[in-house]
Amino acid sequence: MKVIIIYMTRHGCAEKAAKMLKDRLGEGAETVNLKKSGPIQLENYDTVIIGGSIHVGQMQRKVKKFCEKNREILGRKNLGLYLCCMEEGEKAREQFDAAFDTDLRSHATAQGLFGGEFDFSRMNFLEKKVIKKVADITESVSKIDESKIVRFVESITGRAE
Ligand SMILES: Cc1cc2nc3c(=O)[nH]c(=O)nc-3n(C[C@H](O)[C@H](O)[C@H](O)COP(=O)(O)O)c2cc1C
Repeated sequence: MKVIIIYMTRHGCAEKAAKMLKDRLGEGAETVNLKKSGPIQLENYDTVIIGGSIHVGQMQRKVKKFCEKNREILGRKNLGLYLCCMEEGEKAREQFDAAFDTDLRSHATAQGLFGGEFDFSRMNFLEKKVIKKVADITESVSKIDESKIVRFVESITGRAE
């Protein structure tokens, strides 16, 4: 199975998730940072995984645009969608639903909300200030849920690990 994991990240969490997926998917899987990549030949892959992260309620606009532009071909692929964010439960689900449109979500074989991280070493002054105030924390924290990554891989490959 040829798999491409296309992602965008601001502070590295969605990238970490992409690498964790790649490690579990094994040979034939590759990762591409949409911010740094040239054109991507989706026709070369059976499975396409698209991931991003939420900042102030929104996923990276470039990921949304990529999905819109490639809507037709993505509709013919084994598709996985994931998000990294710190909200949980209903709120996280709402953010996911706003990030990926209904058609894409209903076509996807796997959908993942993998949790997130607050990495103060990668935040700018303003971000640190906002997070300290809103989340009431002063130190970096990681809440990536590896079990959700395992389940996502099981769904996209159709096999238990
Ligand atoms: C300035 C800022 C705003 C954020 N806003 C949200 C938000 O609205 N909802 C949410 O669930 N998480 C929010 N987060 C948490 C991020 O989704 C989390 O840090 C995620 O792991 C970031 O992924 P990345 O490292 O790939 O950019 C915010 C984080 C920062 C730094």
